Amino acid sequence: MVENSYKEERYPSILILDFGSQYSELIARRIRENNVYSLVVTHQISSDEIKLINPDGIILSGGPSSVYENHAPLCDADIFNLGFPVLGICYGMQLMVRQLGGDVTPAKNKAEYGRAPLILDKKSSILNGVHDRSIMWMSHGDSINKLPIDFCKIAHTDNTSHAAIANNKKNLFGVQFHPEVVHSEFGLKVIKNFLFDICNCKNDWTTETFIEESIPKIREQVGNKKVLLALSGGVDSSTLAFLLHKAIGDQLVCMFIDQGFMRKGEPEFLMNFFDEKFHIRVEYINSRERFIRKLTGVSDPEEKRKIIGTEFIRVFEEESKRLGPFDYLAQGTLYPDVIESAGTNVDPKTGERIAVKIKSHHNVGGLPKDLQFKLVEPLKKLFKDEVRKVGKSLGLPDEIVRRHPFPGPGLAIRILGEVSSEKLNCLRDADWIVRDEIKRAGLYNEIWQAFAVLLPVKTVGVMGDKRTYAWPVVLRCVSSEDGMTADWSRIPYQILEKISNRIVNEVEQVNRVVFDITSKPPGTIEWE
Ligand code: XMP
Repeated sequence: MVENSYKEERYPSILILDFGSQYSELIARRIRENNVYSLVVTHQISSDEIKLINPDGIILSGGPSSVYENHAPLCDADIFNLGFPVLGICYGMQLMVRQLGGDVTPAKNKAEYGRAPLILDKKSSILNGVHDRSIMWMSHGDSINKLPIDFCKIAHTDNTSHAAIANNKKNLFGVQFHPEVVHSEFGLKVIKNFLFDICNCKNDWTTETFIEESIPKIREQVGNKKVLLALSGGVDSSTLAFLLHKAIGDQLVCMFIDQGFMRKGEPEFLMNFFDEKFHIRVEYINSRERFIRKLTGVSDPEEKRKIIGTEFIRVFEEESKRLGPFDYLAQGTLYPDVIESAGTNVDPKTGERIAVKIKSHHNVGGLPKDLQFKLVEPLKKLFKDEVRKVGKSLGLPDEIVRRHPFPGPGLAIRILGEVSSEKLNCLRDADWIVRDEIKRAGLYNEIWQAFAVLLPVKTVGVMGDKRTYAWPVVLRCVSSEDGMTADWSRIPYQILEKISNRIVNEVEQVNRVVFDITSKPPGTIEWE
């Protein structure tokens, strides 16, 4: 059994009670951007647990339910009597109204979605500095009929009579709009008012304090035992390696399994950087032959992923036995994974927590749950952008910190159909040119992913006096916030031209370059 003995010591300043909103995570991020530590917890948390945590304030998130539905998720009503400031957002506001004796009904023909000017009615600390008629982002279909005792309306919109409410005496506030989304003009100001003027939060959640606090915790957890880390070269495992090395030095052993599907120069860069430059012990496992052999004759994408995933685990197990024994396994689990698997989401119909959603095709390189290791997961309370900051502050170069996401199965899923060494070499060269030109043009950091895909068909071309018959390469460049949706990047023609010229001239087996102009949805980012 995997045992997690990583200790919690820092309590959050702001607790976000999650009622199933798609924005709960975003609220936490916005608060952390202000250097205040916040955590998302289930709405079922009891007032006793909250008393123990003793936060500076509580936020009730939005959610897909309506408070008058039978199974609408509730919170412990005592929360409002604990003396902590509370801000209810959207559903959170309606819930507070309902639980404190007010009345909420469906807004007939008055549902309001999108931008709306906020008209201020009364002064209140929560809306300090918010301009009258500034644009806020609304998304709801319910409205407040009657306010609870001691509450007053402080703002409205054309379609919503109660867009913001306050009980100034008890520091209870509600907003119908979403202050956490960027489209809300003064949204950030509302959040800051709550954090600093109402809750008196300290802004002491910084990269430096995180590192300072993590190091003794890691040392205490692992004692003098050895820790194994599977290094991939991505920002999470690289940051983890640096943090652990700072904490426990040579007790850390990294394993880098080279499946043969990395991009040009990456294995060499990784070994040179970690092992030679920073003296972090990295065991290089050359498994190229082994992986390519397993993929011979396989062309189905899911089958390819499965084979690569299984083989990865086999190699990992064999090698950890050879290098071990190890008591601990370090994993780069991040906070969004924790929120997702904690299942804080609720089913609006039954009020039950929704089970963990696992992105099945994104778990290649993941390790089985029955390994005999205890886990060390010091990044598990961090968002991706916080990991980048920690990595940077520990001395990781931009090349790693700002690296585009790269799938676990690597180039093997960027060669459509069967993979071969010849195709891999060809794709590696084409891919290198794409990234090189995108970097030279200064576009690398603006783009979510930029890469080449090799199509297993031959197209006719002409070079000199000769006809050629060679593979086409697809150029895929997308902008995205989180990889869930994406748009194709409008790369200037001159750069496209350069990339295309270089690929057909420098990569022998390629005679054609095409540019993918499909958004996601309906297309995916990868081609397989
Ligand atoms: P799609 O292609 O589904 O990709 O739009 C969304 C994001 O996920 C990455 N991706 C993967 N990552 N293993 C991974 O670790 C995979 O099998 C995999 N497939 C897609 C993709 O690169 C993009 O960032």
